[in-house]
Amino acid sequence: MKRVLITGGAGFLGSHLCDRFIKEGYHVIAMDNLITGDMRNIEHLFHLPNFEFYHHDVSKFIHVPGELDYILHFASPASPIDYLKIPIQTLKVGSLGIHNCLGLARVKGARVLIASTSEVYGDPSVHPQPEEYWGNVNPVGPRGVYDEAKRFQEAITMAYHTYHGLETRIVRIFNTYGPRMRLNDGRVLPAFIGQALRGEDLTVFGDGSQTRSFCYVDDLVEGIYRLLLSDYAYPVNIGNPSEITIKEFGEEIIKLTGTKQKLILKDLPVDDPKQRQPDITKAKAILDWEPKVSREEGLRITYDYFKSLPEEELYTAAYHREFAKN
Ligand SMILES: NC(=O)c1ccc[n+]([C@@H]2O[C@H](COP(=O)([O-])OP(=O)(O)OC[C@H]3O[C@@H](n4cnc5c(N)ncnc54)[C@H](O)[C@@H]3O)[C@@H](O)[C@H]2O)c1
Repeated sequence: MKRVLITGGAGFLGSHLCDRFIKEGYHVIAMDNLITGDMRNIEHLFHLPNFEFYHHDVSKFIHVPGELDYILHFASPASPIDYLKIPIQTLKVGSLGIHNCLGLARVKGARVLIASTSEVYGDPSVHPQPEEYWGNVNPVGPRGVYDEAKRFQEAITMAYHTYHGLETRIVRIFNTYGPRMRLNDGRVLPAFIGQALRGEDLTVFGDGSQTRSFCYVDDLVEGIYRLLLSDYAYPVNIGNPSEITIKEFGEEIIKLTGTKQKLILKDLPVDDPKQRQPDITKAKAILDWEPKVSREEGLRITYDYFKSLPEEELYTAAYHREFAKN
């Protein structure tokens, strides 16, 4: 049985990856310090003999007994509301955390796949964004802590590949959504659905003309699985190129939820990217991958999930466990 370590395994994407690797017959070890994750995302796996959970901070020394075939580094705060509140931990998990994973991979002879992000392109001046675009990031702006951590993470991963011959994969993830997102994590999709469920107006930042493209989580997981098993070491964009303005998206959510509320406009946050759309030519050519789930279908599943949550969660503010300043 192949063994895989998934850091950030109790988070939104990490938990879906745990499910997928269990389904494929792997022994899965999830490692998470639960700073933004939730045990409820993985508790259905605890009874399985081929699932283990390590409650541990990846930015500290990591050790896993036994063999490891793959390490997927997904630990990191991911939404602006998280990384603006815990900026130092964000920088540490993207630097010390990946360094620990790469060291462990060398000892075990494991292949490493890292979760990078479309944020490495910053506020892009090229549209849609191909992997060759170097990005437009403000290193000292508020979002720099996340964007630069991810850029460093790519650089050190590539250095281990080049200088140590380590097998590495880099996925640049574009906005992904689905069940197990947190309603209060500040991202536009749960924010809109949460507001609709609470009977509040939907807040649009800026004039709503900025665009995003949303990928359903099952499509993303399929792309990541294929990339891991491929022999391609350079970054690959995985996302859904179907682009929509935030204003149109708000209108879709109003239609989906049947809310009587309306869109209201507020000031745009600093360095908010104006456009986001993946160029997935590489993923199509190398992985024979493209998204299959339409926004309509994915939103319906996600809305049903949010509706099934206990009502008090609608009113819970964002939390950060083990909050520490450095
Ligand atoms: N969701 C997206 O649309 C998206 C887009 C681009 C990139 N990503 C990347 O995918 C990964 C997962 O994102 P997500 O949306 O699932 O976020 P999430 O917050 O739900 O999951 C992140 C998980 O990492 C854990 N974690 C954070 N720091 C840790 C540390 N030092 N040690 C151990 N565990 C730690 C958290 O507790 C959480 O369970 C992140 O690396 C993120 O940057 C996500």
